[in-house]
Amino acid sequence: MAEAFAPGKCILFGEHAVVFGHPAVAVAIDQGVTVNISESNKWILDGQEFSPEKHPHISHTINELFNYQGRPLNINISSNLFSAAGLGSSAALSNAFGAALYHHMKQGTDIDRIRLAKYAHSAEANAQKGRASPTDTATSSLGGCVVVSGSHVLGTKHIFDTKLLTPEGQREWSINIVELPLSIRESWLVLGFTGEGAPTGKMVEKVANLLKEKPEKIIEMDTIANITKAGLTALSAGNLEALGIAMNACHERLRSLEVSTRELDDLVLASRPHSYGAKLTGAGGGGCMVALTKDPSRVAEAIEVAGGKPLISTLGSDGVRIIKN
Ligand code: MEV
Repeated sequence: MAEAFAPGKCILFGEHAVVFGHPAVAVAIDQGVTVNISESNKWILDGQEFSPEKHPHISHTINELFNYQGRPLNINISSNLFSAAGLGSSAALSNAFGAALYHHMKQGTDIDRIRLAKYAHSAEANAQKGRASPTDTATSSLGGCVVVSGSHVLGTKHIFDTKLLTPEGQREWSINIVELPLSIRESWLVLGFTGEGAPTGKMVEKVANLLKEKPEKIIEMDTIANITKAGLTALSAGNLEALGIAMNACHERLRSLEVSTRELDDLVLASRPHSYGAKLTGAGGGGCMVALTKDPSRVAEAIEVAGGKPLISTLGSDGVRIIKN
């Protein structure tokens, strides 16, 4: 038997701009996915016969990544993330399942987080027609605060490079981490789910179409990159006020790229009186917003009153881990 947990993620800065090679900053959150596996007489997932087509992340991990030839497994998945909400639930599933299987096959060996991050990215790409940035999978695997970029970002610690052959050609990323100062631990993230799914592929396409129609909007990508750099400096220095200002500025740029919605704007505005800053997080078009605050219960109440579902988390939770042998 093996049981593993992998956290979800929240993008603080750089969504959409990362698609154009600019940096994105994400933190692991407290909520995530737990996967338990044990040997069995037949393949079972959550009490039902396992169907590989319905679970491409899991079947790709078993067959292509681990080449698992052992006895059938009884797999149980539980999650305390909103799913399809931009919180990285599929990346967390890939990492938690990968870690549990790794542990099951190599009893007693520490899990290799970099290998798992690469495996989980491959499983994501396989399930998403070859298109996936490594942001979600790397953050869920490594934990803490992760910076994903086309090249190394000054002031961060380089961990690994990764590449993917996408339908648009080869893409390469540098995965880096930032040590969060202790003062950051005094603040909280409150995520507010609009109740609508976040259609990542559709929103990335929407931005591409907007830039074709209005090429002058490309300036927003450079502006987001500058805000991301300012946000990273504030994060590394533990300057919560500056971090919040950068979050607010980033939301305005994402609005200009037309990826926010009325519901996201409502939750952002409801949170701001009790927060350092608030913005949509992830692809937009639905999904979640995030607020940075010292008063998480006030913000959670404000989000509920404005019609959202709140989730409170610390910034930069630990990455994937084995919780039971
Ligand atoms: C989605 O969580 C973030 C986007 O930047 C897409 C990506 O990075 O692949 C919108």
